[in-house]
Amino acid sequence: MGFFSTGKANVQASDISGIKLPEHIGIIMDGNGRWAKKRGLPRTAGHKAGAETFRRISRYCSDIGIKYLTLYAFSTENWSRPQEEVNTLMRYFKDYLEEALRDFADDTIALRFIGDISRFSPELRELMIKNQTLSAAHEGMILNLAMNYGGRDELVHAFRDISEKLLSGEITKDDISEKLISDNLYTKGIPDPDLIIRPSGEHRTSNFLLWQSAYSEYYIDDVLWPDYTAEHLNKALIEYSKRSRRFGGV
Ligand code: IPE
Ligand code: IPE
Ligand code: MG
Repeated sequence: MGFFSTGKANVQASDISGIKLPEHIGIIMDGNGRWAKKRGLPRTAGHKAGAETFRRISRYCSDIGIKYLTLYAFSTENWSRPQEEVNTLMRYFKDYLEEALRDFADDTIALRFIGDISRFSPELRELMIKNQTLSAAHEGMILNLAMNYGGRDELVHAFRDISEKLLSGEITKDDISEKLISDNLYTKGIPDPDLIIRPSGEHRTSNFLLWQSAYSEYYIDDVLWPDYTAEHLNKALIEYSKRSRRFGGV
């Protein structure tokens, strides 16, 4: 079939021109450990490869005009992993945050963090705050990194903050609404995710954006995160563009 011929057979999976893109994509970056195991490597080698995918995919999302990208990097439950694995992950976070601080100065991406960052080392916390401050005025994609994030933990924090406002008389019981709860989450001001992608074939949320994903479209891909490419993302985007989102209507 010639280059200029038309018709379905000529449509590449990668052709996302003209399709309706999600405004907000969430990705559960999963499968690093299994990727390493398949190669007879330590799990940490999978995290190193996964960090490269993270860099590539966030750049790609920014390039194609995604407005919000939320990447699940470390859950409230991930502290239960072997200490050596947690330490290595912290080292990779530090490397990335230092690199971002150097390179993002001229970038358009705004970096933000969602999760309880008080549990990280002072050094990592400082890097997060510096990155967030330095990039706050950037007008391109907002890249939310979910670090020590748990959807339940986020709701616990929201309940505490709302209780304080109730007790101080700032609000009354009748002020508690869906909007008020959303406004007390880490994602305050950010629209709910339209599309959540989970590579590595697992069919579960693992505590990611519980409240915000009420009407998100889920897309499960069997590929392991270190092998995830722009082509995989394009396939998810094409499928997303064909889904009918009814939000309970008809
Ligand atoms: C995701 O990959 C990375 C983090 C959770 C930090 P995993 O480490 O969970 O990889 P698998 O699921 O064991 O393959
Ligand atoms: C979810 O993956 C957390 C992140 C990707 C950061 P996990 O590997 O921790 O989830 P489970 O244990 O398979 O549910
Ligand atoms: Mg996993």
